[in-house]
Amino acid sequence: MRVLMVSAEVESFARTGGLGDMVAALSLALAKLGLDVVVVTPRYGITRVPPNARQWPERVDARWGWGPSDVSHATVLECEESFEGGGRRRVCLLDVPELFDRTGIYADARGEFADNDRRFAVLSRGALEVGTRAWEGGPDVLHAHDWHTAFAVVYAKLVMGERWAKLPAVFTIHNLAFQGVYGESTLDRTHLPRSAFRPEVLWHDGAVNLMKGATALADRITTVSPTYAREILTAAGGAGLDLHMRAHAHRLVGILNGIDTDSADPHTDPVLARRYDVTSFEVGRAACKAVLLQSVGLTDSDGPLFGCVARLTWQKGIDLVLPFVDAIVARGGRLLVVGQGETELEHRFVDAAARHPGKVVTKIAFDPPLSRRVFAGSDFFLAPSRFEPCGLTQLYAMRYGALPIVTNVGGLHDTVEPIADVGSARERGVGIVAPRADEASLRIAFEAAFELYRDRPSVARAVARAMRKDVSWWGPARAYVALYEDVLGG
Ligand code: GLC
Repeated sequence: MRVLMVSAEVESFARTGGLGDMVAALSLALAKLGLDVVVVTPRYGITRVPPNARQWPERVDARWGWGPSDVSHATVLECEESFEGGGRRRVCLLDVPELFDRTGIYADARGEFADNDRRFAVLSRGALEVGTRAWEGGPDVLHAHDWHTAFAVVYAKLVMGERWAKLPAVFTIHNLAFQGVYGESTLDRTHLPRSAFRPEVLWHDGAVNLMKGATALADRITTVSPTYAREILTAAGGAGLDLHMRAHAHRLVGILNGIDTDSADPHTDPVLARRYDVTSFEVGRAACKAVLLQSVGLTDSDGPLFGCVARLTWQKGIDLVLPFVDAIVARGGRLLVVGQGETELEHRFVDAAARHPGKVVTKIAFDPPLSRRVFAGSDFFLAPSRFEPCGLTQLYAMRYGALPIVTNVGGLHDTVEPIADVGSARERGVGIVAPRADEASLRIAFEAAFELYRDRPSVARAVARAMRKDVSWWGPARAYVALYEDVLGG
């Protein structure tokens, strides 16, 4: 089966968050299951281009068949990996320097790029062109991710003619909070059909809404966890599109993300001070914790280390931890926060660290190797999101044996089986689940964590369960294959 994927981010080339992780890992898992996958993504200024990348001999039609355009050329750089069983994955980097050769994916230090509609329209249109050339006869399925590539679904269904219109299109919502909302002038700027600027498709509250357009037109809509699939049908979780999502609920399904357990493996991970598996984690994780504490400037204590790796945004609820910083320190705990995001939040965590030298450390950074050391060295991993479509960090945390402290939302609900109380922790549960993202719930969660931490045998059992949990892509990737087969058959 030939799958054409389009995404603004693909891990190992360029990414800012979970979207890039997910697309990279899913496309690889599909290829390992024998599928023939092409992923199209831009070549940004920050993209890491592997040395084996091969340039396509011909440029892709620069004018995208739309008549004169200011985009003058597009080169394709292809990176291919093949697998036993005949599957392969080709990542095709679309090189349009005037649009993509910048220091960020969506924004730079001066803020969000003003021409993101045009940039992602060109990515999407280019992806269809790449799909036409990558296989004789084109792809069997189009799979687009998040609002940036919503254009691909709209073009395929409404602009490109019958062949594309008939091609099954799957659209995955990674985060409904970002919808790609633009003024009416975007229609002409990006060649969206005016006939689709109506409430059932692209029109929403007087503006162009890409997320709405793609979900209206795709044959199947997926999102990244079953609980989030339900949440987006409600006024509280629908980000203004709940009515629309309810109208399309019969085509919506939630498939849980996994992580690439081949590369994320504490038994082989080269960045860890000491490698370990489920039989040796007590010694291994203790060594990782000691080295981590020392390397970031935290003093040792006999209390728990609370680690956090997150985008510092309202969604992640990490501000809810701030009221507990003093209490954590007073009880001998340590706190390590790694992330970047909203300036005000960054400042508040930098201040908290300044007030507690050696006990609280904030690293304003996006640093994947350090993140993995945090998963390996923390006793508890904090992810108290206000909403969370899936969340990947809690999966990494469990894989590396840090017990997650999460809120009961979206994918966090679906992946973290709660430890009900210290007594039952010997038998059941892999993390502490706070019922809501508020101070009162988190107070109880921190209480539970300190209590659990004193019961070493219970902690060890919970860690072993967390590490044994299947967080791989195999199950989810098979669910996507079944979905593709279903949409091809019907
Ligand atoms: C987005 C979501 C996150 C999800 C990721 C990958 O970043 O916010 O919950 O895990 O996409 O699907």
